[in-house]
Amino acid sequence: MPEPTIADDLLQLLNWEQKHGRKTVYLAPDTRSQFFPDSVQACRETRDANPAPASRSTEPRVTGAGLKTDTSAATIQQAKQDSSDHGGDPMTCGWEDLSRLVQTCHRCSLHKSRTNVVFGEGDPHARIMFIGEGPGFDEDQSGRPFVGRAGQLLTKMIQAMQLSREEVFIGNIVKCRPPGNRTPHEDEAEACLPFLRRQIELIQPDILVLLGATPLKYILGKTGITRLHGTWHDVNGIATIPTFHPSYLLRSPQRKRDVWEDLKKVMARIGKDPEETMRKVRRQD
Ligand code: URA
Repeated sequence: MPEPTIADDLLQLLNWEQKHGRKTVYLAPDTRSQFFPDSVQACRETRDANPAPASRSTEPRVTGAGLKTDTSAATIQQAKQDSSDHGGDPMTCGWEDLSRLVQTCHRCSLHKSRTNVVFGEGDPHARIMFIGEGPGFDEDQSGRPFVGRAGQLLTKMIQAMQLSREEVFIGNIVKCRPPGNRTPHEDEAEACLPFLRRQIELIQPDILVLLGATPLKYILGKTGITRLHGTWHDVNGIATIPTFHPSYLLRSPQRKRDVWEDLKKVMARIGKDPEETMRKVRRQD
C-alpha cells in the first residue's frame, strides 16, 4: 500500500474537524494572506478575542478530541510549521500542537485501521485524570474516550465522586483503536506513551486513576491489578491509584464494591464526602 501523502493527511484532518462540528480552519498567516488576503484581518480579530489560557481557574474546557471549543483547528500546514518549531517532539510542544501531532500520528500500525484518533477530553487543568487502555468501537467512531457501555459506567463512577466528566480529564494508553478491541501491543503502547506523558505534564493533575491492568503496566510498570487496586503510588510527584477497568466491572459486577472503596480514597484526597453520595442514592431509591 502506498504511504499516505500530505493530501491524505489533510483530508483526514478536515473530515475529522467537520465531523466534530468545527466550522473554521486555521491557516498559517502566510498561506492565508497569499490565498485570502481580505480575511487576514478577520483572522487576527478572532485570535485576539480568544487569548491563550493562563491558569487552572480560568482555563476554558476542552471537548471532543481535546481542542478548546473557542479556538479554530489546524491544517497540516500548521502541523508542519509546528514540526519545524518543536521538531515534532511531543515533549516540548503545547496543548494545541500536541493535539495536532496526535491527530496526524503514524507512529504505529494502529493508524491504518482507525476511524478517529481519540485524544482524550475534559478539563486541561483537571485535578483528577482517568487513564484507560485504548478506544473501543464507539470511541473510534466518535473520536471521544469512554462513550460506550464501559464509558457510561465510568461516567457514573465520576458522578458518584461528585464530579462531572467536564471537571476531570479522561485519556488512554493508546489513542487509536486496537482491531477487535484487543489489548494494545507493547510497541503500540510505547509509540503512543510520549503523547500521554506530555498530556500529564501539561495538565499537572493531583491524582491519576489507572483503569485496569494496561495503564497499571505502562504507567507504574507493575502487574497484578487484583492485588494492587486501591493502593497509592507516586508517579513523578502525582498520587496514583489503580482500580478495576469499567469493562471488567460490566463482566464482574461484584467488584463494584472494591472500586467504590478505591474511589472513596480519591474522594478523601479532594475533600469530598462519600456519605453525601450515599444520601443521594438513597433519595433516588
Ligand atoms: N475502554 C478504554 O480503555 N478506553 C476507552 O476510551 C473506552 C473503553
